[in-house]
Amino acid sequence: MNEYTTKSINSLINWNRKVMVYENLSGTIGNTPLVRLNKITAGLTGTYYAKVEAFNPGQSAKDRIAFYMVEQAEKKGLIKPGGTIVEATSGNTGFSIAMLSAIKGYKCILTLTSKASTEKISLLKSLGAEVVICPVDVSPEDPRSYYSRAEQIAKETPNAFYLAQNFNTDNAAAHYHSTGPEIWKQTEGKITHYVCCAGTGGTLSGVAKYLKEQNPAIRIIGIDAYGSVLKKFWETGIYDPNEIKPYKVEGLGKNIIPSNIDFSLIDEFIKVSDRDSAIRARELASKEGLLMGYSSGSAMHGIFQIQHELDENSVVVALFSDHGSRYLGKIYNDGWMTEQGYLLGNESETKVPSINEWEDHEHYYSYESVKRRYRTYYRIYRLMYRKYISQTKKSLGL
Ligand SMILES: Cc1ncc(COP(=O)(O)O)c(C=O)c1O
Repeated sequence: MNEYTTKSINSLINWNRKVMVYENLSGTIGNTPLVRLNKITAGLTGTYYAKVEAFNPGQSAKDRIAFYMVEQAEKKGLIKPGGTIVEATSGNTGFSIAMLSAIKGYKCILTLTSKASTEKISLLKSLGAEVVICPVDVSPEDPRSYYSRAEQIAKETPNAFYLAQNFNTDNAAAHYHSTGPEIWKQTEGKITHYVCCAGTGGTLSGVAKYLKEQNPAIRIIGIDAYGSVLKKFWETGIYDPNEIKPYKVEGLGKNIIPSNIDFSLIDEFIKVSDRDSAIRARELASKEGLLMGYSSGSAMHGIFQIQHELDENSVVVALFSDHGSRYLGKIYNDGWMTEQGYLLGNESETKVPSINEWEDHEHYYSYESVKRRYRTYYRIYRLMYRKYISQTKKSLGL
């Protein structure tokens, strides 16, 4: 390699970065990078960073809670060597627990709803987990639900530990002790806004608690899904089952109130739609090279919703929970995006529109806009008709 090539590579990559050796994979959990967002935020005031949790070995923030909750359970004597970890999950937590169980030599039983894809089931089984499929269309209290089945399996299995990520507050504690201090250090205490999706609320509340302890002025922005009960509960203190509707975006929103959310820490709660989340995730991939999960698109859209309160001194950190590889059949698949009606264009040429293009499109087809256009066409037609009649009369000498 000539000198010129070596120099140009060295200018791009910090080769002197410390490379560590680990006893096992769990040592690589946490210490994820903070990555500056450049192109997607072009034209916006302030500085924007993404806390990229896909750098965890299980490619999501859930590695942190799985590791911390199991360690705490071991310390409290709730699980002993050779025991079984049980959880109700179809998502990232299942993957993290299965991975950790393999590392630590525990048996892992996961209850999933019948909505879970075959790929997801295969993935969990590959890590050695036992998968129990439960009906999706039953209430959480029904003994057949995946929550009830997990609880029952844990009760019936000797030396079993039910993780219960919604209610075990070691979930939020994991983020209080790791993600929060990391963000504070990485921004050298300059963070002014923290944007984070809320599901169990662990990632949002654990980090928020730590950051508010350092600087109470830091604004905490929660992101919720349409079809979830969380925002209404934050606003009114009322659990309203009428809020519950099916939605596509994964990870955020709930149909229960988890103990891990500390609602008092949230300064603003924003609902983000399935479509806007999908389009923002695609934008992150095409503009920043960040192939992130669906909920990262929701957090990204949240950034655009708080522009009114930002200035040149704002340092905004959005937490991106997981990697996009788990959504190749959904938001990164144009067929799926077309089925949902998220793409614009004709049959031969569809494209992912920007949010602005979508808003223009919606405005064009809105009732008011169609009515206005119809009136204009009608007036023009009437004028042309009158002109035609008067010309005809003239030519006939009438
Ligand atoms: C992809 C994704 N995003 C966001 C969340 C929400 O995180 P938390 O449960 O800590 O609120 C989850 C949780 O399952 C998730 O899997």
